[in-house]
Amino acid sequence: MSFSTKLADSFGKVIDSTPYTAVDPIVKINYIAKGNNVIFGGHGVGQSPHNLIYIGKIFEGAQAKSYLGADAWVNVSFPHVIYVSGTRGSGKSFDLGVLVEGLSSLTNPSNVSIDVEPVSTVLIDMQSQFWTLRYAPRHDVEQNKGQLDALKEWNIQPNSLSNCVIYVPEGGQGFLGDEKTLQIRPRDVPHEDWCRLLGQQIYSPQGHVLGETLRYLSDQAFSIEDMLNYIGNARNFPNIPDASRNAIHYRLLEYNESKLFHKDGLDISDLLKPGQCSVLMLRDLRDEDKSLVTALIARKLFTVMGEYHRQKKVADFFKQPSKVMDVPSKVWLLIDEAHVVAPKDVDSPARDALVEYVKRGRDAGLSLVLATQQPSAVDDRILSQVNLSFNHRLAFQTDIAAAVARVPTKPLSCLKVSGTQLNDFSDMLRLLESGECFLGDHSTSRTVMVKIRPRITAHGGYSPV
Ligand SMILES: Nc1ncnc2c1ncn2[C@@H]1O[C@H](COP(=O)(O)OP(=O)(O)OP(=O)(O)O)[C@@H](O)[C@H]1O
Ligand SMILES: [Mg+2]
Repeated sequence: MSFSTKLADSFGKVIDSTPYTAVDPIVKINYIAKGNNVIFGGHGVGQSPHNLIYIGKIFEGAQAKSYLGADAWVNVSFPHVIYVSGTRGSGKSFDLGVLVEGLSSLTNPSNVSIDVEPVSTVLIDMQSQFWTLRYAPRHDVEQNKGQLDALKEWNIQPNSLSNCVIYVPEGGQGFLGDEKTLQIRPRDVPHEDWCRLLGQQIYSPQGHVLGETLRYLSDQAFSIEDMLNYIGNARNFPNIPDASRNAIHYRLLEYNESKLFHKDGLDISDLLKPGQCSVLMLRDLRDEDKSLVTALIARKLFTVMGEYHRQKKVADFFKQPSKVMDVPSKVWLLIDEAHVVAPKDVDSPARDALVEYVKRGRDAGLSLVLATQQPSAVDDRILSQVNLSFNHRLAFQTDIAAAVARVPTKPLSCLKVSGTQLNDFSDMLRLLESGECFLGDHSTSRTVMVKIRPRITAHGGYSPV
């Protein structure tokens, strides 16, 4: 059952019993009795539901009013900061796929989204596993068979993203043959990130050399070679010892060889196409380079989208015809294995950029989704902005404590599982199966257990990649 609109009419029943009975009543939840739906992440849906993506079904019974089996949706009208945590194999990457499927243009009409205004999604893929978003699950792939059976049971058709562009770093391993090369422009990397990347203090002779070089080249598209040439010329730095210049020279040479940079590298507007999903497959990069690429994308997104919304506001206020840039009004950045690029205790370019992204993101139409198996390792300044959380199975107490601290509502305090009563949320998290999670939503009075729907596209986690 679902909203009695359009395609979303008839999900399979799938769940009619559960071993889980929640004892705490739910005081506040956005429940639409018509069609038995729960909407997370925002207010009511009004007369005609729109901007909703389908994520699964409520999987808890209750002693008071039960929502067991109700269809669960996320309202994507507003920017979100979503935190997905869980151990290996608990379903985090799967969730990212579910969200991207709901947000992106699909090859065939589907009931997994309702009137979603076209947005752009950018997926930072540390394991190079999301290329399969371009493909429906296949009957002749053994690992896809269970997924196809589940889709049938849920009454959801297999599908594929109609515009999914895959980026691979130069020299990295592609899978499809039509991947785009991911290279970044040296001019997009600010002075402090160059210093960090080359292991230099900003206020040191080496930091000074880098700063002067960037200043000199700032009015042109430049390559690492251009930087090397400028730094290699002692006359440009009469008061700096050769050793300082050489220190940077050697490190820059390494980057020149790695081919991560190119003066005509990625233009952010290539990612800002409505309905498009851009997958950045970063597995072959070193962690510091993954962080650099992520930082650059985050920074460019908030600069461009911030400017777009500023222009739009002015045009709307003065009732001027809109001459604003041609970009979607909303962008989602999704980062799998987020602890790699935004660790808590290590200074990294992405950490600072993401802090700014979440702080300024709301006004710029930017959403962020972070997934990690180490919730205690992700920077708190980013996590303090979370408004929606997907908590999958966790085992270690430190990780559980960190994950629970960022749940934006009250954790469930009492759950009966096949007759046994649990009074500790940690114990509840420990017994979840893959694909089951507690959803924490700041507009719902407590966490609610949800079974995530099957993926409509092939899940890369299945495939030998
Ligand atoms: N909602 C779901 N429905 C059905 N199966 C699921 C679901 N979520 C996860 N699974 C199963 O669990 C497996 C692992 O899921 P996933 O790749 O998302 O794990 P992960 O949490 O990202 O793990 P890792 O930390 O190792 O990357 C999937 O390949 C799939 O078999
Ligand atoms: Mg994963």
